[in-house]
Amino acid sequence: PRVMVLFGGRSGEHAISCATAGGVLRAIDRTRYDVVAVGITRTGQWVLADDDPERWAIRDGHLPEVEDTATRVLLPQGTGEHDVQVVRDGRLDAPLGAVDVVFPLLHGPFGEDGTLQGLLELADLRYVGSGVLASAVGMDKHMMKLVLAGSGLTVGPFRVLPGGRPADDALLASWVEELGLPLFVKPARAGSSLGISRVDDAADLAAAVAAAREHDPKVIVEAGLAGREIECGVLGGRGGAAPRASLPGEIVVTDARHSFYDFEAKYLDEAGVTLSCPADLDPDVVARVQDAAVRAFEAVGCEGLARVDVFVTPDGEVVVNEINTMPGFTPYSMYPRMWQVTGLEYADLVDELVGLALE
Ligand code: DAL
Ligand code: MG
Repeated sequence: PRVMVLFGGRSGEHAISCATAGGVLRAIDRTRYDVVAVGITRTGQWVLADDDPERWAIRDGHLPEVEDTATRVLLPQGTGEHDVQVVRDGRLDAPLGAVDVVFPLLHGPFGEDGTLQGLLELADLRYVGSGVLASAVGMDKHMMKLVLAGSGLTVGPFRVLPGGRPADDALLASWVEELGLPLFVKPARAGSSLGISRVDDAADLAAAVAAAREHDPKVIVEAGLAGREIECGVLGGRGGAAPRASLPGEIVVTDARHSFYDFEAKYLDEAGVTLSCPADLDPDVVARVQDAAVRAFEAVGCEGLARVDVFVTPDGEVVVNEINTMPGFTPYSMYPRMWQVTGLEYADLVDELVGLALE
């Protein structure tokens, strides 16, 4: 089958998406799949891109970026037409041919949030991962928590500042009163910790809200939770089987310069954080984390894959923090590592995901 590996995009996680694509381009079995690499520039142009994984690595703090190659990739229109066209120098090239499945390795808004998924639905192209609604719910930390809590999962206390609502001092003070400190202030729709601040002093809350608003007018303020930061991979079941969970992994921030698992610690400071995988947890806690992960996946209506991030509190309670419908696949990322320790190698994971999309 021909697979379009699609990456980059307009969100703040552009570079992470490139690095994720690098990982997949390295692992995908090219004897089985005919791979077409398509990048989306920061301003949204779809271009033919280099399919050499090395080009997309994060190396020495350098963040990769899709450049405009002066080509334009056009999606088919109309049902049953899968031929992708390429425009070069303003002229239609020979058609690229039929694309059997798109692997949209995009993170954040305009990629992981249902908008791209809607475009692919309109183009009648099959794609890996969640559909429109699950992607949109998974992107919006507010809606996500409502859906998770409404399905009986435990989520932490939070407050929401809707877009357009002024960050009134009295309102913010009441949240400190109600939720305590520290607080985590987040853009409702972003990823990779972009725009997130940890607030230990109430005096810093307004500035943290303003920083989050640079990414999204809607802001969510979460109570800091005591507990271990545990992640769990979920993979959709083939042939109608139930989704299954990987062994969990644990994020251990080892460098005090990172007051939480921030963007730096995630991608740029290899020494600052340890991904402990599998996490050292009692078997009954592992079972409860896996159960919560699969329930979260089903509650949101995910397909294909997701990574569910939870806190395990000192008394063993599993609190779901969030679900990511297109988790990072960079060499720094937990999702492929969790599957590897569960017995599914990276190349087989990619194979499984493409197979799911083709079902
Ligand atoms: N948003 C990043 C890519 C993740 O969840 O891994
Ligand atoms: Mg997360």
